[in-house]
Amino acid sequence: MALRNIRVMGDDILNKQCKEVKEMTPRTRMLIEDMLDTMYEANGVGLAAPQVGVLKRIVVIDVTGDEPYILINPRIVETDGEQTGQEGCLSVPGKAGQVTRPNYVKAEALDINMEPFVLEGTELLARAICHELDHLDGHLYVEKVEGDLTTVNYNEIEEID
Ligand code: NI
Repeated sequence: MALRNIRVMGDDILNKQCKEVKEMTPRTRMLIEDMLDTMYEANGVGLAAPQVGVLKRIVVIDVTGDEPYILINPRIVETDGEQTGQEGCLSVPGKAGQVTRPNYVKAEALDINMEPFVLEGTELLARAICHELDHLDGHLYVEKVEGDLTTVNYNEIEEID
């Protein structure tokens, strides 16, 4: 198990565009394993590669605690509906804010073997997919917060990543 340092808001890397993954390498596999370890250790439900300082289009998501999804070069191909709720981010520690996202998201991505798959989600999973994919384009949820960013006790909210 290897943990990586989570970059926090103010670090330029969080505002950069990530690059597509062209092939799976041992180094990229190790990055993905470390991202999963880092996400679980931090009690997040998702983590994007730039949050650990790597500008690659890779995210990991697990909203249930036992069903991790690895998405490489993901893109959202369909959305429906709307949900408004509290969102947080491991790169913005101790804060939360209200964000409106689609209530249903369909994404296409490659898995760890670079095989294409489709991931559909509603509610928290849909929110997590949107939040994580935003990271790959250098965006943080704080840009989308309606009203004020609030200071929270992290035990009280559903964390995103
Ligand atoms: Ni985040």
